[in-house]
Amino acid sequence: MKNVILFASGGGSNVQAILDYFSGNNKVHFPLIVCNKAQAGVLDIAEREGIDFLLIDRTTFKSEVFLDNLEAYDADLLVLAGFLWKIPTFLIKAYDRKIINIHPSLLPKYGGKGMYGSHVHQAVIENKEVESGITIHLVNEEYDKGTILLQKKVEVLGYDTPETLANKIHVLEHEWFSQVIESLI
Ligand code: GRF
Repeated sequence: MKNVILFASGGGSNVQAILDYFSGNNKVHFPLIVCNKAQAGVLDIAEREGIDFLLIDRTTFKSEVFLDNLEAYDADLLVLAGFLWKIPTFLIKAYDRKIINIHPSLLPKYGGKGMYGSHVHQAVIENKEVESGITIHLVNEEYDKGTILLQKKVEVLGYDTPETLANKIHVLEHEWFSQVIESLI
């Protein structure tokens, strides 16, 4: 049995897709969702699915108390699915090569601080890119710079808006994220 902790602070559509993909699979368990926004949709998902959640503030997140909290869950993998805070060094060291993130662009393009959500899609469209996509990567100490595990592309069409592009990217994310998680565990 592998324990996977999910980190998410948005609507949680990726979290839902992951839970659906592994539903009924008794080799993978999702004991905890870590979130930093009290209003995040992902918390409704946690409640509906009966999963513990930890609502953290920045001070706790940066303190080693947080590491103690996580250790109680005996995690094999930490999955960032729409989690924006930079992961502190002590956590990266404690979970060496066991933290992955999904990013809605073809890294290294459109990554780094401030490049999240619609900012990414807006920039892709403004720069008249003809393709964008998703990147699933290991997390290291620099934003969006860890080893790339998988990339998938999508065409950017003349009439795409940040919203239509985000929708296409979400489809790719929902299709591929769980498969990468499965291959890692
Ligand atoms: C995804 O697009 C992911 O790439 C990014 O945050 C978004 C989360 O979306 N890191 P959701 O909350 O899973 O719908």
